[in-house]
Amino acid sequence: MKCWRDRGGRAQPDAGSDLDDRARARRSAPGLPGAADDVCVGAALWGALLPPRVFTDDHPLAKISPMAESPNPIDHVQEQLRGAGYLADAATATVVHLAGALGKPVLIEGPAGTGKTQLAKSVAQMTGKPLIRLQCYEGLDESKAIYEWDYRRQLLQLQLIQAGESRRGEDASLTAAGIFGEQFLLSRPLLAAIRSDTPVVLLIDEVDRLDMEAEALLLEVLSEYQVSVPELGTVTARHIPRVFLTSNNTRDLSEALKRRCLYLHLGYPSVEREAEIVQLHVPELSAHLAKQIAALVAVLRGADLKKPPSISETVDWARTLLVLGAGELTDELTRQTLSVLLKYERDISAGLAELGV
Ligand SMILES: Nc1ncnc2c1ncn2[C@@H]1O[C@H](COP(=O)(O)OP(=O)(O)OP(=O)(O)O)[C@@H](O)[C@H]1O
Ligand SMILES: [Mg+2]
Repeated sequence: MKCWRDRGGRAQPDAGSDLDDRARARRSAPGLPGAADDVCVGAALWGALLPPRVFTDDHPLAKISPMAESPNPIDHVQEQLRGAGYLADAATATVVHLAGALGKPVLIEGPAGTGKTQLAKSVAQMTGKPLIRLQCYEGLDESKAIYEWDYRRQLLQLQLIQAGESRRGEDASLTAAGIFGEQFLLSRPLLAAIRSDTPVVLLIDEVDRLDMEAEALLLEVLSEYQVSVPELGTVTARHIPRVFLTSNNTRDLSEALKRRCLYLHLGYPSVEREAEIVQLHVPELSAHLAKQIAALVAVLRGADLKKPPSISETVDWARTLLVLGAGELTDELTRQTLSVLLKYERDISAGLAELGV
């Protein structure tokens, strides 16, 4: 069961969890005695002892009949992601499901444009949770990733207190000023996700752009879901955020970071899946043309290219062909528009040779 830790570190059930929703639905089925678990056991026994019975949808027992099996959670996640505009294969849906159930971050690696960032966005959309994004870059530090003290407000507070005390003829004391309270803390993405009153999705995008020292800043958040502020103490998450880290694999990430995450590699999809993705983004395109586009892109990816076309470039190409009113992929059209897919002169020549057009 999904859970979060309260401020005292005690595990608590997540009120928003899908599992809890299902348990509540079972418990509230009208006309059924006893606790939810008793009901499930009873239903299983009936199923074993009696000949199968079919209940109409509005019958109270229809919800728990052995005939009405609960959907496979992986299929359910795939469906939900599709509803949020993302076509996930079974491996991807499994990792998303497990990450939610175990409360673990997911590290997504893979080539550019294979849907790493989009997966986190779609999970936020499908769960209805706000997305908090930390865009990583070289030189990112604690004050941009975690928190910063609001020096101007602290200074103002100090001046106000000192003025009040000197009017009363007392010694102005810095310790009494209370300038290291939460109200003077400026939250950056990691702390914002930890302090959020509602569960959020945290996207730490392009983590491989961080240097090793900055990468180490993430470890406490990823394993303990907490942030230590020396002047204030430890701020612990009210709700465990769903965390996604993406990486283009430009450098090896530390073992410490990898150990804290579930791992998902997103490579290029099969021709069938890519054609489906194209149709999802460009529904006006015929299924036939979408398949032709995906098949040609797959051939190009097999060539020796500096930068193989990404899924986003396939989708751009499909839009281009739609704008040009193409009903069929011809050699001439391919030659004219190949620069939408390939962005190096040498790749265009190699691509044309590979395709023989
Ligand atoms: N499985 C998918 N279902 C639907 N759309 C997809 C899928 N995979 C990729 N896309 C689309 O491809 C585009 C690129 O995806 P995204 O930006 O997530 O790639 P990325 O892997 O994060 O790339 P980069 O490494 O360059 O940041 C998006 O418009 C996204 O909608
Ligand atoms: Mg990305």
